[in-house]
Amino acid sequence: MTTLLVLHGPNLNLLGTREPEIYGALTLADINQKVEKAASAYDVEIYSIQSNHEGALIDALQEAATKADGVIFNPAGYTHTSVALRDTIAAIDIPVVEVHLSNVYAREEFRHMSLLSAVCAGKISGFGWMSYKLGLDALVELLNRQDAESAKK
Ligand code: DQA
Repeated sequence: MTTLLVLHGPNLNLLGTREPEIYGALTLADINQKVEKAASAYDVEIYSIQSNHEGALIDALQEAATKADGVIFNPAGYTHTSVALRDTIAAIDIPVVEVHLSNVYAREEFRHMSLLSAVCAGKISGFGWMSYKLGLDALVELLNRQDAESAKK
């Protein structure tokens, strides 16, 4: 069975009350529930982790490389600052899809730059909780394609 990590970065534990005009009214638990429901249609198992700490996110990614097939990752504020998270994503050999609730390109200029996008399989931004669902769809498709390619070899 395919296992995916849904990883949430700093301040996403505050969803529901954090700037709802930007991030929406859903709590993190609501989002996790919706992603789990979507994953069950694919017969994919999900586990979710949220941390406000860069090192804990690095540990979660390194551990995912040993027990998961891919990661849906909202790095939140660390998107724009973290060389260390970029190095981790580059070091692990499972695909990571970068997701953002808001459209980072419609916001402050510092949010336009991601240190992580270049080492991720792809990036989805601007669709609220649906960014996670679209990230799931993309990751499942990518893993199926990889399986089909390795079966051919
Ligand atoms: C975010 C966008 C980031 O710029 C911001 O720092 C966040 C959330 C998003 O989901 O839209 O914390 O990743």
